[in-house]
Amino acid sequence: MPPQARLMQMITGYWVTQIVHALASLKIADHLDDGFLTAEELAALTGSDADAMFRLLRTAASLELVSYDDSDIKGGGRFGSTPLLEMLREGVPGSLRDIAIVHGSPAHWLSWGKFPDTVRAGEPQTQAALGSDVWAHFAAHPEEFERFSNSMTELTDGLSREIASLLDMSGVETAVDVGGANGALLHALLKSNEDVRGVVLDLPNVETSALAEAEKAGLSDRCEFVGGSFFDPLPHGDLFLLKAVLHNWDDDSCVRILTRCREALRPGGRVVVVEMPLGPIGEPGFAPLLDLNMLAVVPGRERDLAHYGELFEAAGLRLSTVVPTRSPQSLIEAVAL
Ligand SMILES: C[S@@+](CC[C@H](N)C(=O)[O-])C[C@H]1O[C@@H](n2cnc3c(N)ncnc32)[C@H](O)[C@@H]1O
Repeated sequence: MPPQARLMQMITGYWVTQIVHALASLKIADHLDDGFLTAEELAALTGSDADAMFRLLRTAASLELVSYDDSDIKGGGRFGSTPLLEMLREGVPGSLRDIAIVHGSPAHWLSWGKFPDTVRAGEPQTQAALGSDVWAHFAAHPEEFERFSNSMTELTDGLSREIASLLDMSGVETAVDVGGANGALLHALLKSNEDVRGVVLDLPNVETSALAEAEKAGLSDRCEFVGGSFFDPLPHGDLFLLKAVLHNWDDDSCVRILTRCREALRPGGRVVVVEMPLGPIGEPGFAPLLDLNMLAVVPGRERDLAHYGELFEAAGLRLSTVVPTRSPQSLIEAVAL
């Protein structure tokens, strides 16, 4: 592809973000689950303008997000699902519906809108974009926060079974999922380790959805929710999980969180950080992009393994093992010094 065409694709990338966001918000995948529908039918089902819906679907068809059947052209042609659209259906394995909505919603969308200022300042411009930091924004917008927590569950669900199969659980009685949101990772661990008890520690506003998810997983008797902050003393355990938590924070905050984990660690226990380590500069991959998402939205960053080692050491821990997964995420394990 010529450089100008490639660049043009990058420049207009956010149009596609919002097209996918609209398809997900309007539940087009769910509506097309039973078969083909016309744009008018989809407009009626979603309370949308018929012409705008047709234009959205025509563009979505050019992106392979929907298919088009014009064999009954008198009826105006009908639109159907595709493998891509199927991943925007609610509740299917691997669904990315909530994450598609989250990335077009205020916390992410408005914060990224200030990105040049973010680079100038070296920190997220959420105060200017949202009126507060992202966690206060979520506290004031519970529906957006619930969507965000569910999107974390979507992303974690796919990986959690693999993580559960990779983690050595011998000697573990209590696992604590620190900043565990709805507890998707912990639930996978508890399901494959029937003698283990679990604690999800997250902000109090996650409690309702976390308890509902534990009940749905049939784990209410072994999985407790503790509402609180990971900057305060933590419940004791022999395995501390930190998945997609440290990358939300600056180094000093990470050391404080890891220190809390080390203080609550029973003898012989360990901390398992699940993150996407940065590779060498120029290596293609998702981690460098995610790093900028962490710069734009939270005061966080992606790190390479040496950097995680330094954080552990500052918190009185030692990096012991790194276990790669099939995804770009690795299990970065640490034990007390
Ligand atoms: C990116 S999410 C990761 C969720 C989960 N570990 C996963 O990977 O699916 C970060 C989590 O940290 C939680 N969080 C933010 N600040 C916190 C704090 N001070 N104490 C405890 N949890 C916090 C958020 O509510 C959110 O659930």
